[in-house]
Amino acid sequence: MLLKGLLDDFPVLQRTINGKNLIYLDSAASSLKPSKVVDKVAEFYSYHYANVHRAVHTLASESTEMMENSRSNIAKLLNAESEEIVFTSGTTMSINFIVESFVRTGILKKNDAVLVTAVEHHANFVPWLRMSKLHGFSFKAVKPSGRFGELLIDDFAQFTGENPKILAITGHSNVTGQVINIKKIRELFPDTILIVDGAQLLPHNKVDVKDLNIDFLVFSAHKMLGPSGIGVLYGKKKLLEKMEPFLYGGEMIDKVTLEDVTFNVLPYKFEAGTPHIAGIVGFGVAVDYLNSIGFENISEHVSELTQYAIDKISKLDFVEIYGPLNEEHHAILSFNIDGVHPHDVAHMLDQEFGIAVRSGHHCAQPLMSILKDESKLSLFPNATCRASFYIYNTKDDIDILVDGIKFVKRWFS
Ligand SMILES: Cc1ncc(COP(=O)(O)O)c(C=O)c1O
Repeated sequence: MLLKGLLDDFPVLQRTINGKNLIYLDSAASSLKPSKVVDKVAEFYSYHYANVHRAVHTLASESTEMMENSRSNIAKLLNAESEEIVFTSGTTMSINFIVESFVRTGILKKNDAVLVTAVEHHANFVPWLRMSKLHGFSFKAVKPSGRFGELLIDDFAQFTGENPKILAITGHSNVTGQVINIKKIRELFPDTILIVDGAQLLPHNKVDVKDLNIDFLVFSAHKMLGPSGIGVLYGKKKLLEKMEPFLYGGEMIDKVTLEDVTFNVLPYKFEAGTPHIAGIVGFGVAVDYLNSIGFENISEHVSELTQYAIDKISKLDFVEIYGPLNEEHHAILSFNIDGVHPHDVAHMLDQEFGIAVRSGHHCAQPLMSILKDESKLSLFPNATCRASFYIYNTKDDIDILVDGIKFVKRWFS
């Protein structure tokens, strides 16, 4: 159930695309921005902007206070402490940061085992894979044995005997739309350092890091109504304290002499250089906005849309839908039309219907190979079309998507 008037908060929805009303089904790539976020960022730059933490003048104090308010907002959202919230440029940066810092600190050493899954976005796959080659730790990926890339708990259970030092997993697949049961997986690996890629999870769910006993949680503002170029690395205090910074420079130091350096307290030890201050302020407003709608309402609305879309599209016998078809499937619907390349599908939906969907490998090439093996299509293109839903979407959007899919099939036949 959509909040009354909510669509008015997103001015871009007034736009027409190729003569049709815009239907934005690409939120998994990046969400739209409500006016509240855009206006706050503009107001911040216009009236409050100065560099943070370094000066005593009024603008610097205002700027610092606004940035730190965002940090505590985000900490509250995760049931974490403010000092455990490190701002980065996004999920990708956060994961690279963790891997590199683990190596520098000696938390990750030769012969240690790192476990990921084969459905990961490249951001949570390539850094571990590459660094395993450079530093000699073992790298393994859990393979999904369920329907079209669906991860089952048993798939993870096979690896418990290997005692991985690190388990780095997505909380919500950006291709199959599967929401992963972190609680159950944590029970299987009680002593492993658990890193959750929350890029797709956080836009739809309040995640309690204490309740789930997550060691690190990473996510990006731009997928949850906030500005691009800003993200979060949550880390447990006792781990962050041990870790060597990833970036060195200004702000992250305590004392520097000709011979040595000591570091600032958390979280500033990890925030070298001038941060994306306006982005952080905008992110705080985005979190306020999401809280005002309520994460339960968001989840319920998107869930309803997802099931509606699965029902309608699965009736089309020329379409293959990926991922599970149960209630674990949320917000993201990847599909292919038999005999039509997903780029052609996406192009035609845009041109003829004003629908924005994503097409390609979605930065998950290992998963594309798995989907290919299971596909019944005459030719699997190593890519899919992906429609993703968020708070500003409606069932009407999905009806038009279904019309569009039928149109594309007819046109290419
Ligand atoms: C599951 C997942 N992880 C990581 C990323 C990378 O996020 P960013 O580009 O914001 O760093 C994405 C982006 O699509 C994603 O969907």
